[in-house]
Amino acid sequence: MGGRESIWPKPCRPPRHEGIARHALDAMNPPERRPVSPSLRDAWPDDEVHLWKIQLDWPESVLARFRRDLSVEEQQRADRFVFDKHRRRYVVAHGAMRSVLSRYLGCDPRQVEYQTNSKGKPAIKPGLGDGILQFNLSHSEEVALLAVTQGRAVGVDLEQVREFSGRDGIVEKQFSAAEWEEFQRVPPPLRNEAFTLGWTRKEAFVKALGEGLSCDLRAFSVSLTPGEEPRLVHIDPSLEGRGPWALGHIDPEPGFCGALVVAGSGFVVRERVWSPEV
Ligand SMILES: CC(C)(COP(=O)(O)OP(=O)(O)OC[C@H]1O[C@@H](n2cnc3c(N)ncnc32)[C@H](O)[C@@H]1OP(=O)(O)O)[C@@H](O)C(=O)NCCC(=O)NCCS
Repeated sequence: MGGRESIWPKPCRPPRHEGIARHALDAMNPPERRPVSPSLRDAWPDDEVHLWKIQLDWPESVLARFRRDLSVEEQQRADRFVFDKHRRRYVVAHGAMRSVLSRYLGCDPRQVEYQTNSKGKPAIKPGLGDGILQFNLSHSEEVALLAVTQGRAVGVDLEQVREFSGRDGIVEKQFSAAEWEEFQRVPPPLRNEAFTLGWTRKEAFVKALGEGLSCDLRAFSVSLTPGEEPRLVHIDPSLEGRGPWALGHIDPEPGFCGALVVAGSGFVVRERVWSPEV
């Protein structure tokens, strides 16, 4: 398990590629899981947000172990993927999430139970642990991020920076007027990155709210210019909810960017790297 800390809200975006250290997947020969995992709840200050990075491409031996921990519903969902690669990544993401959450809850991974709100946001089922654990998951290609807090609403989003078909149309129709104007000021070679920054920040916010994409994405504005401070520029009063909100930039690894939105301020983000023996 690796880790580093940062105080939020961050004053500015960290230099590119200064994210969590890349995992040496090739060199790894994962040991068998320990029968009793040490608790992650001990000595966890309540102002600390944990951000786990999970690599999703692992050999079949690791997959088999995590598949056994999934609920019947999760196993059925895994089996519905058309492509094997997607099935495998789903199994690892959800198996790893169970493994991590079980250690905060002090139970076996198979005992972790979720409930979802009307928009699909999962939460820990009441009655498990002390009821304050909150989390959010995002995955893109071979990487996932899992944010965990004590009582703070949280949303995380991760995307690969790439060419998006219909990019400019999405900015015109789904982004706010202020975001559209800022996007026009970004030099064209940086617009794929600007779009990804804007999109992940917007998704992280609607995921923190628990609304997902059912939320009116034009009812709030985020900054999106590469290299500039990540900011929630404006939030329509109808969306304020449990705010104030803090928005931060994540550089999980080259070619990806992400965003984390957490309710409140004055907290520390501790970044951790998940591996099967954790
Ligand atoms: C949530 C949503 C924004 C995810 O965006 P995405 O970039 O495709 O996916 P990400 O990898 O970032 O996040 C997916 C994870 O977010 C979580 N999630 C799902 N719905 C969520 C919501 N409303 N709010 C916050 N998190 C949510 C889940 O853990 C999900 O993981 P899973 O798909 O492996 O189970 C989008 O799918 C959405 O809006 N869904 C809601 C659809 C809806 O309104 N459904 C209502 C009927 S159920």
